[in-house]
Amino acid sequence: MHAPIQPSNPIKTAEMTDPYYKHHVFFCTNQRDDGARCCGASGGQQMRDYLKKKVKHANLNGPGKCRINSAGCLDRCNEGPLLVVYPEGVWYTYVDESDIDEIFDLHLKQGRIVERLQLK
Ligand code: FES
Repeated sequence: MHAPIQPSNPIKTAEMTDPYYKHHVFFCTNQRDDGARCCGASGGQQMRDYLKKKVKHANLNGPGKCRINSAGCLDRCNEGPLLVVYPEGVWYTYVDESDIDEIFDLHLKQGRIVERLQLK
């Protein structure tokens, strides 16, 4: 009977990796021209630009800190406008800059989920 073969280079699981960014935020900025609901028509790009400036102004941008990106449709159009924060995988909706301010102050700065804006 042979001993089981042990892999010489075991596969590293995703849970074992450190995230490059502490918080990686993706804003859906998808814009549709056919009148269908989309985040782009509800300020997706403007709110992404707004949060990106806030993060940069607070010197919270960069590796080990935050990154704010635009994304195409995230396929939750009827719940938008929306953004998602990784690696936590927390989804938010928002109405205006005050909601973005709250996500910035609580989630990105303090690591606390803004439950009133969270999508389940
Ligand atoms: S348009 Fe934003 S999730 Fe589809």
